[in-house]
Amino acid sequence: MNVLLIGSGGREHALAWKLSQSPLLSKLYCAPGNAGIAQCAEIIALDPTDHNAVIQFCKTTGIDFVIVGPEAPLVAGLADDLEEAGIKTFGPSALAAQLEGSKGFTKDLCAEFNIPTAAYGRFRDAEAAKNYLKQCSLPVVVKADGLAAGKGVVIAETAADAEAAIEDCFSGAFGDAGFEVVIEDFMVGEEASLFALCDGQTALLLGTAQDHKRVGEGDTGPNTGGMGAYSPAPVMTQDLIDQTMSEIIVPTLAGMHHRGCPFKGILYAGLILTNTGPQLIEYNVRFGDPECQVLMPRLKSDLLELMLAAVEGSLLEVEAEWRDVAALSVVLAAKGYPGAYDKNTTITGIEKAEAEDAIVFHAGTASSNGQLLAIGGRVLNITTLGSSVSEAQQKAYHALDQITWDNGFCRRDIGWRAIEREQS
Ligand code: GLY
Repeated sequence: MNVLLIGSGGREHALAWKLSQSPLLSKLYCAPGNAGIAQCAEIIALDPTDHNAVIQFCKTTGIDFVIVGPEAPLVAGLADDLEEAGIKTFGPSALAAQLEGSKGFTKDLCAEFNIPTAAYGRFRDAEAAKNYLKQCSLPVVVKADGLAAGKGVVIAETAADAEAAIEDCFSGAFGDAGFEVVIEDFMVGEEASLFALCDGQTALLLGTAQDHKRVGEGDTGPNTGGMGAYSPAPVMTQDLIDQTMSEIIVPTLAGMHHRGCPFKGILYAGLILTNTGPQLIEYNVRFGDPECQVLMPRLKSDLLELMLAAVEGSLLEVEAEWRDVAALSVVLAAKGYPGAYDKNTTITGIEKAEAEDAIVFHAGTASSNGQLLAIGGRVLNITTLGSSVSEAQQKAYHALDQITWDNGFCRRDIGWRAIEREQS
């Protein structure tokens, strides 16, 4: 089977790495890809926003299956257009991708189907939003409704901060994503993520993870796409996993089916574990990045077979098998990230890190004249397995220290919560 993978991040390198091990695979293509993905797929210079170009490429190359990695093309309807052109595609329709593309959509679904989440209001003008604020306790959470690359959420400690966040959204700080604002109660608890593979009716658990969103050690500083992750998340006991599946994931699938937009693809639940049990913070409609980088090395089963079962509606007939180990991934990012950073700086020593039993998943990399260059904010994901998160962490930093990149930095405390639990 010929497969085209859409995307260019560390998540897509992890997917390409795993897909390339599938006995069902004839040839893997990736667009637009990166220097690491080029080691396991043929890189194609296609623009995923040009749906006709993607369809044309699939037809002329004989692509049997397309897998869409990131959320933006899903929200933009790439899966719909490919399916309409007769090309089997992994990833939700644009309507179903609203679970990530519109926070208000998800909150309304939760309200209708009794899915535990924070109390909220949806607003299309600043005055109404500010009036609602008067009845909220502080802190309060102000969110741009649409996709804002992780930047559209403010936890406001004061009414003035909340009002400023509302003004920001409506003044266009997040483009179309701020056309509507969602205001939510602030929930207290530890955060964790749960991933489920869905075929429209059935959800198959794909594991748990925790990531580190803040740029600085001790979870401080501005938010990023994620500076590291580990899986499984020890805080997610079997009881909490069962409760999340039955109270959050299953009713979501039923609700989406009821609304006429069945969800097929990866449902990534961002959870907060409160005194009253797991509550949904938000959904994403794709694998997490860097969470995918720690899920794929733990997955024993054939990813391609699982994804095909999700598309064909036969998830009840398959099982996912996992290695009973911990996986941890540390992100090496360009100095300055998540703000401005230099590009085209040189990286060496990847093969030395790999010789230390690490898998190095690339994100923002390109190769030029035999050199590996950093061209993005998050650049490499140094990923290791261990009998515990502590062991995986030691291996990851040992491997990472084999890499020479003067313009790079990382957090040195990835996994701290899990390690504290292991040591207590
Ligand atoms: N690591 C967070 C995300 O993928 O959205």
